[in-house]
Formats: sequence, structure tokens, C-alpha cells
Amino acid sequence: MAKILVLAGDGIGPEVMGETVKILQFVNGQEKLGLEFENALVGGCSYDAHGKPLTDETLRLAKAADAVMLGAVGGPKWEELDYSVRPERALLALRSELELFANLRPAKVYPALVDASSLKREIIEGIDIMVLRELTGDIYFGKPKGVEKLPDGQERGFNTMVYTTHEIERIAKLAFEIARGRQKKVTSIDKANVLETTELWRKVVTQLGKKYPDVELKHMYVDNCAMQLVRYPKQFDVIVTGNLFGDILSDEAAMLTGSIGMLPSASLAASKKGMYEPIHGSAPDIAGKGVANPIATILSAAMMLDLTFGKKAPAQKIEAAVEKVLGAGLRTADIAKPGEAKVSTQQAGEAILSELKKVY
Ligand code: IPM
Ligand code: MG
Repeated sequence: MAKILVLAGDGIGPEVMGETVKILQFVNGQEKLGLEFENALVGGCSYDAHGKPLTDETLRLAKAADAVMLGAVGGPKWEELDYSVRPERALLALRSELELFANLRPAKVYPALVDASSLKREIIEGIDIMVLRELTGDIYFGKPKGVEKLPDGQERGFNTMVYTTHEIERIAKLAFEIARGRQKKVTSIDKANVLETTELWRKVVTQLGKKYPDVELKHMYVDNCAMQLVRYPKQFDVIVTGNLFGDILSDEAAMLTGSIGMLPSASLAASKKGMYEPIHGSAPDIAGKGVANPIATILSAAMMLDLTFGKKAPAQKIEAAVEKVLGAGLRTADIAKPGEAKVSTQQAGEAILSELKKVY
């Protein structure tokens, strides 16, 4: 028996999660995985109900679960709140409390969707990049931080970029190991020409790289990487980087593929426990309309089956079902071209489920 905590969250979260849970329940029955589902509030909806984006009880459930499926958090309704109770704080607290130090954000172009990208077909056709972002360190969590008043009446804001050898080593090790199962290329991203923290990053990654002579290691400055991603993205296999650079570069890599509505992510602890969520946000502009693309969340569930539960075969079946329906022309609004017929969130979920039923 394994426990999954479902945190659908805000905006389109509940809609895309609804379709995903149906698919997971079907696979659970077929494969006799013994998965049990629990639900709890997170983000803005939790703030509305309890005055906190993440309650102690939800955190307890998350700690007790084997995996967490998360929809999305946030929206304009909660933007004016104090920093400490903003919906996004729930995400950061879950990452940190569950020690989810490794964030895997694959950016892959589906043949059926090459024309959905804003870049030329020849640039993006066939790209398959794994962005590995360190998720519990860096300027996101470094101390001291804050905003202080100065004697002259001005204010001064400050955050601290910090990494220890251990933090760099464990994420870099994972990067080399993931690369071994792919194209055996790691590009480590830093700003070692300016920032001491990332000078250490480069030193530690280089040192560790010696243990992986079969994997090609390159270093690149973050500004150059931002440029190379749009110039010649096919040069990348695994990109490994810190929390802040990873936040930015993973959005850029995601957009190469045409739609952020397609991309899953996994955040893993050393124990293989994980939190799985779509890369996209809560999309308040389309929330409640039943038009959101559920594919990113469905693919996140596939990553969960593979990475936390070690069930690669059903994960691949889900991925194949997604590819099939896309190949057959199924399009939610975010990936439809002008004039193309659009399906709803529910129709997309049902089409993927019925494709899946054919292979069981
Ligand atoms: C992400 C998001 C979060 C981050 C925000 C919502 C806190 O942008 O998951 O990439 O910055 O990590
Ligand atoms: Mg981000």
C-alpha cells in the first residue's frame, strides 16, 4: 500500500487534477498498485479556509505520504497578502520540509506539436532536455534576508546566495546519473565569473565529474545558456543548475516546446519520495472554464509512477497514450492553431483514458 496526497490547489489545479486522478485510479486498478488517495487544501484555498497556505495538518499528511500530486497555487485574489501567507509560500515550505532538493523538468518536443513553438521547426525538432534544478538552497532560502530601514529613511532589501559542498555534490551526482541513462552529456550552469557561490559550484561539479569519465561535462555561464537555449537547444542533454538560475532557465526551456501546458515536473528527496506537479501555474484567467490542458499534470503522474514507485511500464503507457491523442489531432485551447477544433479539459482526459484502456 502506498499513499498519495492530492493537493489540487487553486485556479485550474482542481480541473487538471480531476482528470489525472481518474487516470491514476484506472492504472492503479489494472496494475494492482495499491495506491490510496487522500485530499487536502494548499495555497490560496487553504488560506481562505484556515488563514494559512499550508496548515500543519496538510504538512503532516504530506510527510506521511509516499508521494504528493500538486495542481497549482496562487491567483490575483491572494496577491496583496503579506509575503508570509502568500500561496507560493506553501510550495516553498513543502519543498524545504520534505527536503525535495532535486527538481526534474524535462522539456521535450512532441512531433505533433513542433509548429506550436515560437521558434523555427528546424531549431526545436527533436529536442529532449532535462533541466535539473536544485530546489532547497540558493538565494531562495539563504540567510540573512529581509528588508531593513536605513537611518536616512531609505530601505535596503537583501537575500543571500549560498551553497555548501554537500548541496552541490548531491545534485551534481544525480545529474551525472540521469545523464548516464540519456545522451551522457551534462551542462552545468553558473555565473562563476562573478559570483563566489557559483565559483564553488563549478569547482565541486568539476571534481565530481572525474568520477563519471563516461559523461561529457561542460560548464556554461547562465547568460550564455539563456542565449544558447534559443540559438541551438539541441546541444543540451542534462542541464544542472542552482535554484534561481533553474527557475528562469526551466521556463525558457519549457517554452521551446510550444506550450507550458504540456510539461510535467518531479521534485525528489534522497529517499525517492517526491512531489509531482505541472510546470504551469494556476492560470486564473481560464480557471473554472473547463478548457485547461490536463496533459502536464497527467505526465507528472506518469513521472511519479516511474520515479517514486519504480513502475516504468505503466508510466510509459500513459506517455504513449498522450502521444497517440496528440498525434490524432486532439488539441486543448493552448495548443490549438487558429481554426483548429478545441477540446475541453474533460474531453482531453477522457481521450487519454480511453487510449490507455486499449493497451490494458
Ligand atoms: C516554479 C515557480 C516557483 C519558484 C514560485 C511559484 C515560488 O516559479 O516552481 O518555478 O520560483 O520556484
Ligand atoms: Mg518558476
